[in-house]
Amino acid sequence: MYLQRRNRILRQSAAIRSLVAETALSPNDFIVPLFIDEGENIKTEIASMPGYYRNSLDVTVKEVKEMWGMGLKSVLIFIKCKDELKDNTGKEAWNENGLMQRSIKAIKDAVPEMLVMTDVALDPYSSYGHDGIVKNNEIVNDETVEALVQMSISHAQAGADFVAPSDMMDGRIGAIRQGLEENGFSKTGIMSYSAKYASCFYGPFRDALDSAPGFGDKKTYQMDYANRKEAIKETVMDVAEGADIVMVKPALAYLDIIREVKNAVDIPVSAYNISGEYAMIKAAAKMGWLNEDKAILETLTAIKRAGADLIATYFAKDAVKLLT
Ligand code: PBG
Repeated sequence: MYLQRRNRILRQSAAIRSLVAETALSPNDFIVPLFIDEGENIKTEIASMPGYYRNSLDVTVKEVKEMWGMGLKSVLIFIKCKDELKDNTGKEAWNENGLMQRSIKAIKDAVPEMLVMTDVALDPYSSYGHDGIVKNNEIVNDETVEALVQMSISHAQAGADFVAPSDMMDGRIGAIRQGLEENGFSKTGIMSYSAKYASCFYGPFRDALDSAPGFGDKKTYQMDYANRKEAIKETVMDVAEGADIVMVKPALAYLDIIREVKNAVDIPVSAYNISGEYAMIKAAAKMGWLNEDKAILETLTAIKRAGADLIATYFAKDAVKLLT
């Protein structure tokens, strides 16, 4: 048999495969989500995220030092707000002595070069568990945006490098950019969750922060998973309003969206390998049905291949260990 082209030539050894590989993961790709709790010396495993913890700030700071030592360069902070501090205005979100603000300061003090990104949305602070202010059973847009601006300014004041609005209200990126400028935070960046879908895969995260919506769902602000063009519309608007980095979330069921967004914009694209995606791999591995390490690397490589320049992932530390 004579073949003019033999594609298997480039697959015949590990050496040639690595030489021609189109995508390579690096510790520089990852953003590490952190769940922070009040208290001291506390490490609580999240039931639906085995191997992932909600830590008190002292434990978190130690972890962040270790992460920097491993080559990880950025963390994305989420805090668990005490029930008695939750209300419908979300005002604990911009308390200058709040857990979020203390966490930002403590991490920047301990590891100044670590990029600190912060989640901006009202759900952990909302007595309704919604990302915005509720009036007559509706999540109102413009008042919520005002709250998000205050929240972003307070994160910048505490030392955050990037604020990451995950709420999906209209017009919040432009308003936050303007608020940061007016308060002298011209160096604080915005990583916008620009195409964030209403997804069942956020379930374990809501367990971690006790932030599940108290009524209804998030479909009047997060996107319908049936839609693709809408993701481009949302993303292009966020870029025009001043986003520095855009994001697609979730990642795995949305690889087509990551690619389309990557082709549509000329700024870095991130993807969030979310809690439910973590839980699925952990559960299958626990059952002995999947090889966890291989599943982690294949998943993260696929997200990068789809077009993600950055990946927020609960597997960041595992991936770095597997890569080095
Ligand atoms: C809050 C927020 C959520 C996630 C990140 N920021 C949950 C939600 O929108 O309900 C999900 C992250 C994950 O599932 O890993 N606005």
